[in-house]
Amino acid sequence: MSRTKEAERVLTATSHRRLPDLTVVRILLVDDDPQAAALIDIALADAPFERVIEVATTLSRGITRVEDDVHDIYLIDQQLPDGTGIELIRRARAGVTSKPFILLTGYGSGDIDREASLAGAADYVEKHMVAAQLERSIRYTLRNWQAARMLHDREEQLRQAQKMEAIGRLAGGVAHDFNNLLTAIIGYADLISERLDSSDPSSSIAREVAEIRNAADRASGLTRQLLAFSRKQFLNPTILNLNDTASGLLQMLPRVIGDHIRTTAQLGDDLARVKADPSQMEQVFLNLVLNARDAMPMGGQLTIRTANVDLDEELLGAESLSIPPGRYAMLSIGDTGTGMDAATRDRAFEPFFTTKPKGKGTGFGLATVYGIIDQSGGAIYLDTAPGRGTTVRIYLPATEATPEPRKPELPPATADGGTETILVVEDNDSVRGLAVKALRRRGYTVFEARSGEEAIDWALASGIKPHLLVTDVVMPGLSGPNLAARLSKLNPALRVLYVSGYTDDASALHGANHGDVPFLQKPFTPSILAQRIRSILESPE
Ligand SMILES: Nc1ncnc2c1ncn2[C@@H]1O[C@H](COP(=O)(O)OP(=O)(O)OP(=O)(O)O)[C@@H](O)[C@H]1O
Ligand SMILES: [Mg+2]
Repeated sequence: MSRTKEAERVLTATSHRRLPDLTVVRILLVDDDPQAAALIDIALADAPFERVIEVATTLSRGITRVEDDVHDIYLIDQQLPDGTGIELIRRARAGVTSKPFILLTGYGSGDIDREASLAGAADYVEKHMVAAQLERSIRYTLRNWQAARMLHDREEQLRQAQKMEAIGRLAGGVAHDFNNLLTAIIGYADLISERLDSSDPSSSIAREVAEIRNAADRASGLTRQLLAFSRKQFLNPTILNLNDTASGLLQMLPRVIGDHIRTTAQLGDDLARVKADPSQMEQVFLNLVLNARDAMPMGGQLTIRTANVDLDEELLGAESLSIPPGRYAMLSIGDTGTGMDAATRDRAFEPFFTTKPKGKGTGFGLATVYGIIDQSGGAIYLDTAPGRGTTVRIYLPATEATPEPRKPELPPATADGGTETILVVEDNDSVRGLAVKALRRRGYTVFEARSGEEAIDWALASGIKPHLLVTDVVMPGLSGPNLAARLSKLNPALRVLYVSGYTDDASALHGANHGDVPFLQKPFTPSILAQRIRSILESPE
């Protein structure tokens, strides 16, 4: 399901959620009349909520306390020693707070009414009517404010989901196309060096080709990160216990973070197992610890926790998580560092977003974490504020499944080349051309087709039964797995090697995600392609 769809589903599911009860209402009264607080207190005597009233006697003191943002509602007298209540409301509304104001006036008038509402007051109550009206006005005002706030939060959540989906699609598309280009660049560079090897490895051409390879390798690293973020990298999930991941990494932690940071670990008992890729989970853990370290240059406390949590709609709503209710294993990594302001928090998961100096951060740490966790069916919450530190909580769905033994790896190839017949099907011309060339050079008889349909026509017309099919997974028309199924009917002994740059449709590949279907990830090198082919051809049926 797309992020936006999932967010929409959660929003609809929770749209009936009740507004929270008003239990304690913290009131700031701005009024210089010494009797005012007592008057308000009497007016609220029978109110269905507890109240805490603080008094400020001037406009300027009032504004300061509004900025401190520790109250739920503001009652403002129109006559203040250093200005008018309307003036205070107008100033506070211009960016200081979104919380509600009720204006208290001597006598109302059409002018006051209009001015107060233009300034952003939620209501106004004439002072002689306070006993009769104030309690009701406060209740209605707070209810409206809560409802508006909830709507605002939902819109924010949806906007965030749409943003991540759009960036994810862009990143995935770029990575997909770059994988094909990089396969060609790396491949042809290798073909050149293979030819040079025999002559003079220290020639300037050899060095220049090595530079091309270096640059291309760095580019593939970047492509891998983009794929991870766009949730399209191939994962090798197993059933695992996050405590094992955490304990393994805790041992190497001192070397990573240095001794100016104290570490405590509280790993929960009987932690529910999850389905995730162990090496990717290590990556997640490491990225979060590195961020925590960077946030505490002067030292501090790193806290690593795991626990089982049952997330209900209420808890999911509190952390704006777009995952279904149920049991989750939680991993949290907390620091006592700088924390993030709202603008940073909003963009923290974007690839390339970093607040670190040039050359220090790539801005891919949290983007990678996000992609891995999202692709594994989990969610992340950033609990952070400037000066208060950051706690990152990760939730992965609990599973009842028991760990399965890993399939043995294919045996290592004994040779590089061979004389078998291979059919290469790939819609990208340069990738196909490269594979064909690399394999022919190693002695194979190679046929090629640009699409699944073309491959089937060729097989029917020629009657040739290749030993091995090398095919792209995602192609326009017939997909790799469907092509393999059709060709296997004509040729039951056919072996298959899938090649792909990303998991656009992981299910199309059945078990390839689980490591039991021979699969080669782009970008690949001619020699890795040749080795994989050899080990498939040599492995028993
Ligand atoms: N624990 C944290 N405390 C404070 N700010 C954080 C924390 N984790 C992330 N951030 C903020 O989020 C930004 C993005 O984090 P991210 O891990 O994606 O990239 P980075 O750490 O800047 O670079 P990279 O991880 O690629 O080296 C950081 O630059 C920082 O501003
Ligand atoms: Mg980082």
